Amino acid sequence: MRLKGKVAIITGSASGIGRGIALAMAKEGAHIAIVDVNEQKGKETLAEVNQYTEGSLFIRDISVQENVYEIVAEVTKTFGKLDILVNNAHASRQASFVDTTQDLLDLSFGTGFYPTFHFMQAAYPELKKSRGKVINFASGAGLEGQVTQTSYAAAKEAIRAISRVAANEWGPDGINVNLISPIALTPGVEQWRDSAPDLYDAMIGRIPLRRLGDPEQDIGHVALFLASDDSNYITGQTIMVDGGSIKLR
Ligand SMILES: NC(=O)c1ccc[n+]([C@@H]2O[C@H](COP(=O)([O-])OP(=O)(O)OC[C@H]3O[C@@H](n4cnc5c(N)ncnc54)[C@H](O)[C@@H]3O)[C@@H](O)[C@H]2O)c1
Repeated sequence: MRLKGKVAIITGSASGIGRGIALAMAKEGAHIAIVDVNEQKGKETLAEVNQYTEGSLFIRDISVQENVYEIVAEVTKTFGKLDILVNNAHASRQASFVDTTQDLLDLSFGTGFYPTFHFMQAAYPELKKSRGKVINFASGAGLEGQVTQTSYAAAKEAIRAISRVAANEWGPDGINVNLISPIALTPGVEQWRDSAPDLYDAMIGRIPLRRLGDPEQDIGHVALFLASDDSNYITGQTIMVDGGSIKLR
């Protein structure tokens, strides 16, 4: 029970990697505030989380700024504190550089960068009290500049940039700010695998460990480590949880 009594907000935790993190943390005793727009999946994940701990569900669009501040205020009021903030949700659509529109930039920054920034700002006073942990999400698309990922790559690298700034500014407060750059088998990737098996196999062939990560076992457990006291001396880092695909220098 490494997170017994801790209070965590996890965005995008109805499904995919967020759900995996929610389950990994719930099994170690953390209260989980599930934040997502998908009500059906949110309720399913809440039921799973409630098998281990007490969860709560916020069906809210985090691209609306007021929602972000309300969620932090509600969670803090209910539980009297906030220890862990996981900024996981991010929506985007692919397009070539020249076809990337303002709308696509707004979608990626509006669901990824801005909510991450506002959640961090809203949560800071509570995280300072709890000497808490922030876990943000990066991507190989940003680190490598993958084709057709202009809007997504830009938002992801912007998230990395503010995470480093916050790590430097909030280090003296005992707040750790780190990122995970994952590769995982999520429902979206499963759909893509079924529609383009050859491309999927080629992708697996480029991963040194020759498989996609499991949202709970592989990604969730690294998030658990970053949320626990075991990682107290790590901050400002991007942790590659991608089967060895990218080696940061
Ligand atoms: N899956 C991968 O292999 C992979 C690779 C690199 C980076 N990532 C990053 O990891 C994180 C999780 O990825 P995933 O594949 O599990 O994502 P996903 O798309 O499967 O799930 C994201 C969740 O966020 C929710 N969401 C989307 N927009 C929202 C909004 N405006 N308000 C509230 N909730 C919203 C969705 O409903 C969904 O439940 C993301 O930041 C993603 O960019 C994933």
